[in-house]
Amino acid sequence: MKQTLVIAILTLLVFTNNIFSQSSSDSLKAVILTPPSPDKPRINGARVFGVRPGSPFLFYIPVTGIRPIKFSATNLPKGLKLDAKTGIITGSAAEKGTYVITLKAKNSKGSTERNLKIVVGRTIALTPPMGWNSWNVFASEVSADKVKRATNAMVNSGLMNHGWSYINVDDYWENNHSYRRTNDTTLQGDYRDAQGNVQPNARFKDMKGLADYIHSKGLKAGLYSSPGPLTCGQCAGSWQHEMQDAQTYSDWGFDYLKYDWCTYDKIARDSTQNDVPHYYRKPKMSDSSGAIYPYVVMGKALAAQKRDIVFSLCQYGMADVWKWGASVNGNCWRTTGDIVDTWKSLSSIGFSQDRCAPYSAPGHYNDPDMLILGYVGWGNPHPTRLTPDEQYTHISLWSLLSAPLLLGCDLERLDAFTLNLITNDEVIDIDQDPLAKGAKRVSSKDSLDVFVKPLEDGNIAVGLFNRSTKKATVTGNWQDLGITGKQTVRDLWRQKDVAVTSDKYEAEVAPHGVVLLKLTPAK
Ligand code: GAL
Repeated sequence: MKQTLVIAILTLLVFTNNIFSQSSSDSLKAVILTPPSPDKPRINGARVFGVRPGSPFLFYIPVTGIRPIKFSATNLPKGLKLDAKTGIITGSAAEKGTYVITLKAKNSKGSTERNLKIVVGRTIALTPPMGWNSWNVFASEVSADKVKRATNAMVNSGLMNHGWSYINVDDYWENNHSYRRTNDTTLQGDYRDAQGNVQPNARFKDMKGLADYIHSKGLKAGLYSSPGPLTCGQCAGSWQHEMQDAQTYSDWGFDYLKYDWCTYDKIARDSTQNDVPHYYRKPKMSDSSGAIYPYVVMGKALAAQKRDIVFSLCQYGMADVWKWGASVNGNCWRTTGDIVDTWKSLSSIGFSQDRCAPYSAPGHYNDPDMLILGYVGWGNPHPTRLTPDEQYTHISLWSLLSAPLLLGCDLERLDAFTLNLITNDEVIDIDQDPLAKGAKRVSSKDSLDVFVKPLEDGNIAVGLFNRSTKKATVTGNWQDLGITGKQTVRDLWRQKDVAVTSDKYEAEVAPHGVVLLKLTPAK
């Protein structure tokens, strides 16, 4: 009797819960669209990797599938070796050239192989950097311990098996004299020692040890500074220490530098600053040569190092940075101000990249800022305020734009929906496509947009976006997309072919949502 009563109560609870979820708006349901990765090995991520001759080489082969996996590779250039157990390739390749190697992975369920093109030459970051950055979750609360935990989570969550590879420390690894908010003594210390070497703060006692730790997992390490005397968070910047700092980052073993304009503004406007060559000194931020100069200096300093350091320009798009970012050795450049986890911020940034999109190229990317999925909150984390459909839009649009994909969330608090969203290898392939084109908007009407991105294999990726607050039908017309004939239409989020059609494809798209497609000529 008692048992029957308990069952009745439970049934009632489930039923009420169902009614509740049915009555809540469809677009607020976190629907997982992507099937799980197969047990058999599958090689994911970048298909091309750039390295400079003689630089330390580090590449983890991202493979999903049941462990243990045995890795092998054929045709590795001289100087490189693969650890068959970990899948990490290290060493250094002295000879310039393009090497097409075949990667293999085998487990108890089967084996697979795929080519990777290693280009030993001038250009690095041949596909957009993918990884994690501390700012959107920890902001001024970052510490080496949190960064190590993020590193472990990148490994344990399996994210690195999909190509996520950078662990980047943002602002607040340096000392900060003016830090009064919490009287935090861990930030109080000299900016530099007597020789001018930058001093990490007490939370980051061993920078080399931290970079070594990240590398030991097959991941890469990133750091942050400013061309000004202070960073945006009022920590030590690199002004007048650029070469020395670049050398320090390289000695510590960092692979990525985000270089944030911040207090350089004062220097650029100050006519008494003699180190800014006259022809560069300009009173206004909007003037291009004044805006370019500090990035020329650090770009040269990084290029002079014996290790490859990805150069990420952060100056919010001033002076049309996309037109000159590549000329200062920039690998990516922020095109706007800071993003936050709202639809307003996401949509106004994401859908306003049209003028910079044509400048995207291998090694040189427009950066509409870091991802705002999962637990974010700049020191006070909360679940993202984006709806699930807005999150699908976020990843789809960033992938179509060939944007760097830097997670900004707490990697120790990834829920099933977020993890699914950032481990769809067919979607990641769109971002990592070796042509690195920025998608073009080919139609825009009533808040419905169609974007198209040409891919290296000759096919196209198409985003059907609905920026309105109501469900709507969005149409991709072959004429707009620049294609003809019968096409197989694949829904990339569902990883499923959905049609074979000859002139258009129409989809019903959720409010603030997207349908992301790949179109391939049908036989
Ligand atoms: C901002 C930058 C942010 C973050 C912050 C650190 O200027 O856009 O992404 O780096 O500074 O203080």
